[in-house]
Amino acid sequence: IQLRQICEEHIRYQILQFQEDSLDSVLFLKKIDKCWQNHCRQMVMIRSIFLFLDRTYILQNSMLPSIWDMGLELFRTHIISDQKVQNKTIEGILLLIAKERNGEAIDRSLLRSLLSMLSDLQIYQDSFEQKFLEETNLLYAAEGECLMQEKEVPEYFHHVNKRLEEETDRLITYLDMSTQKPLIATVEKQLLGEHLTAILQKGLNHLLDENRTQDLSLLYQLFSRVHSGVQVLLQHWIEYIKAFGSTIVNNPEKDKTMVQELLDFKDKVDHIIDICFMKNEKFVNAMKEAFETFINKRPNKPAELLAKYVDSKLRAGNRETTDEELEKMLDKIMIIFRFIYGKDVFEAFYKKDLVKRLLVGKSASVDAEKSMLSKLKHECGAEFTRNLEGMFKDMEVSKDIMVQFKQYTQNQNFPGSIELTVNTLTMGYWPTYVPMEVHLPAEMVRLQEVFVTFYLSKHSGRKLQWQSSLGHCVLKAEFKEEKKELQVSLFQTLVLLMFNEGEEFSLEDIRQATGIEDGELRRTLQSLACGKARVLIKDSKGKDVEDGDKFTCNDDFRHKLFRIKINQIQMKETVEEQISTTEKVFQDRQYQIDAAIVRIMKIRKALDHNLLVSEVYNQLKFPVKPTDLKKRIESLIDMDYIERDKENPNRYNYIA
Ligand SMILES: *[C@@H]1O[C@H](CO)[C@@H](O)[C@H](O)[C@H]1NC(C)=O
Ligand SMILES: *[C@@H]1O[C@H](CO)[C@@H](O)[C@H](O)[C@H]1NC(C)=O
Repeated sequence: IQLRQICEEHIRYQILQFQEDSLDSVLFLKKIDKCWQNHCRQMVMIRSIFLFLDRTYILQNSMLPSIWDMGLELFRTHIISDQKVQNKTIEGILLLIAKERNGEAIDRSLLRSLLSMLSDLQIYQDSFEQKFLEETNLLYAAEGECLMQEKEVPEYFHHVNKRLEEETDRLITYLDMSTQKPLIATVEKQLLGEHLTAILQKGLNHLLDENRTQDLSLLYQLFSRVHSGVQVLLQHWIEYIKAFGSTIVNNPEKDKTMVQELLDFKDKVDHIIDICFMKNEKFVNAMKEAFETFINKRPNKPAELLAKYVDSKLRAGNRETTDEELEKMLDKIMIIFRFIYGKDVFEAFYKKDLVKRLLVGKSASVDAEKSMLSKLKHECGAEFTRNLEGMFKDMEVSKDIMVQFKQYTQNQNFPGSIELTVNTLTMGYWPTYVPMEVHLPAEMVRLQEVFVTFYLSKHSGRKLQWQSSLGHCVLKAEFKEEKKELQVSLFQTLVLLMFNEGEEFSLEDIRQATGIEDGELRRTLQSLACGKARVLIKDSKGKDVEDGDKFTCNDDFRHKLFRIKINQIQMKETVEEQISTTEKVFQDRQYQIDAAIVRIMKIRKALDHNLLVSEVYNQLKFPVKPTDLKKRIESLIDMDYIERDKENPNRYNYIA
């Protein structure tokens, strides 16, 4: 007890040196520090001297503090609890930190020593931390406001990142670790949390447009640190994809490049999710939903273009890709395909193109075709690909039949200079073709008859119908200068063969002789006389074939290739074809809607309008507008499949 009194007196005396006001704050801090260090040294010495006392008497009296604790208490009571001294100490410390934050160099070890003094005296929290955090808060609130105005987003992020690093360094170097959480949280809140939306509005689109992956990674990291940061980012992410995607899909002028751009865009966002957004599932799912939304904003066209894109890749002549690349590409296409609601539109166009690839033998790779087919089957079920598979089957069977037919003709010693290849197509799998009767040369007719006899001997009871519009031939042609092989359609063949018999024919002559339908014939003549390779000469000028035009053979025909393919004129046809394909899809949809309504009503007997509509939506695999659905219901009422309930006009009854 006496010891305490002596120490106390000594310490009281110490306070005097801090009473002058004139001291500069750093000097003042140094003085406090020195006083503290001395005090500690003295107390350590006193403790050594009174070690025995400390270990026995004091230890057994729980009411008495140890000598060390007594020393702390005395220092606390007499020196630091002096308001003036304490205020000056804390202000000094805060001033130093403010200077450092401002970029000035300061005496960090002094700060470390003083702050650990505050901790030892157990007044760190109350006297220092609270004020420190308040200052931090004010500083960064102001800084955030100001820099958000001044800086571009990437710069701003780098600044925030720098600030976070600095504060962390401060924590390690001189602050008490208990300050870590509140300090970092304060910085994050003021520099980020307060500005989430503003940051994204200001800079996100630009970063995404420019594929700035590093900045985006930093953005994601920083946003992950603050409450609801990722959520807000996710929201803007969705908006971005929808907006950008719509610019790809909704502009008819960009139809030519739509699919390629979609694929590129998908690649890009995948990449960003992978390397910038840590493969976050939420971003993946949001991206899928966004794709689905924007792609279906424009009905039908994306599905149609996607099918055509696949065709362009699977068609021969596009062999700049390896099988492996092709396979990868098809996988990517399937991902886009998955987003599309109107899969029937895709199927219709896909099928139309597949027909051409198969019948003209223009498929790049059977493996790729099969692989695409199995992907479609996997995605949409066996029903979806049944016809397509049937088409492939037909082609394979046809090959076998042709092998047998060759043997058959060889054995029978048929004379003739024509080699015939027949593809036997099963009706139903293939599109329906309007049969066109044309006048074939006798030799061809005979050959056809031979084939029919042969085929029916193997498959009796089947009905064969020749589709002249699908036929194509290779002709040997001798011009004055050059010998050529012409790869042409059957219609073109019939026209050209006439010139074996005469010099000049009018449109009328040719129509009579070949029996080709007028529109078809005009297009055919146009392709032979007005296209790139002109094997016929038309007597009048102009691109179109007019009544009364006369044609002669172009004896001086020259071409750098030996085998020349003369394309049919297709421009107009393609547009019509495309419209009719779309129309067919719509008609088919109407049947399906009708069938679904009748099916449901047959089971349920009576249903309210809303229930019926929702069940129909459940069953249909393509998008339908409510007004269209209403029309179908009306028409079924007209056809007496169902009737309105007499009491409740919103209710329908099934009519058996
Ligand atoms: C010390 O600061 C507190 C508030 O920060 C103030 O209320 C008090 O009057 C100051 N004391 C002295 C002696 O300056
Ligand atoms: C985006 O940047 C990454 C590199 O960070 C690159 O691999 C990728 O191809 C780029 N994407 C586009 C669309 O430029």
